[in-house]
Amino acid sequence: MSDESRPSPASNPVAAVIPAAGRGVRLGPGAPKALRALNGTPMLIHAVRALAASRHVALVIVVAPPDGAAEVKSLLDAHALPDRTDFLVVPGGDSRQESVRLGLDALPPEYGIVLVHDAARPLVPVDTVDAVIEAVRDGAAAVVPALPLADTVKEVEPAAEPDAPEPVVATPERARLRAVQTPQGFDRATLVRAHESVGDQVTDDASMVEQLGVTVVAVPGHEEAFKVTRPLDLVLAEAVLARRRLNDGF
Ligand code: C5P
Repeated sequence: MSDESRPSPASNPVAAVIPAAGRGVRLGPGAPKALRALNGTPMLIHAVRALAASRHVALVIVVAPPDGAAEVKSLLDAHALPDRTDFLVVPGGDSRQESVRLGLDALPPEYGIVLVHDAARPLVPVDTVDAVIEAVRDGAAAVVPALPLADTVKEVEPAAEPDAPEPVVATPERARLRAVQTPQGFDRATLVRAHESVGDQVTDDASMVEQLGVTVVAVPGHEEAFKVTRPLDLVLAEAVLARRRLNDGF
């Protein structure tokens, strides 16, 4: 593409892929994690609304549990979502990365910027979404929202037996560590190349781009973008929603 025919960065439309096909085993027995309710609304709907709240996001692709695409479609139909955003639902796969890849396969050609956002981070503020998009539009190939750590982190030699003591092998300097959240933002071609050439043994998309040798940059994340993983996280998420309602004057 010549420079003249390339869309200007500001007009480059943004799509979001939301992998929501995980079982959420650590949350305990029950429905797939993304379909569990927070204050009566499925976590996935909160996550979809959080991404669609950005006026830059024109399309949201939800990657549903492999046998749950019809259920997720009717959930989206049953909840109010912004008119200016398009929504697509595709069935997911066995691993998070396979689910993301299936979402990318459904992406129409006009989208040059892609966000990947965990359904399990339902409360990410729109300012965080917009900060990630802005950094990609400013030229970064891959962007992660990240926060400094409160805890000191140790690397251990994992024990064979559960709960057995594990020898500590290293203590990375905490000031240089960040806890990484989503949405992660990408130049589409870079993310697709990463998914075509890097194996599945990763826990986020940015690390696949790192493995290509492409620089990933971090922008400030937000404490409300935490991942709902364990039962206590559900309590925290409902407390955040209650605080928002209070602040919004409802
Ligand atoms: O398991 P973890 O919490 O890392 O999952 C992160 C996100 O990836 C969740 O939103 C989950 O629904 C999604 N996922 C998926 N397909 C899988 C496994 C996880 O879409 N097979």
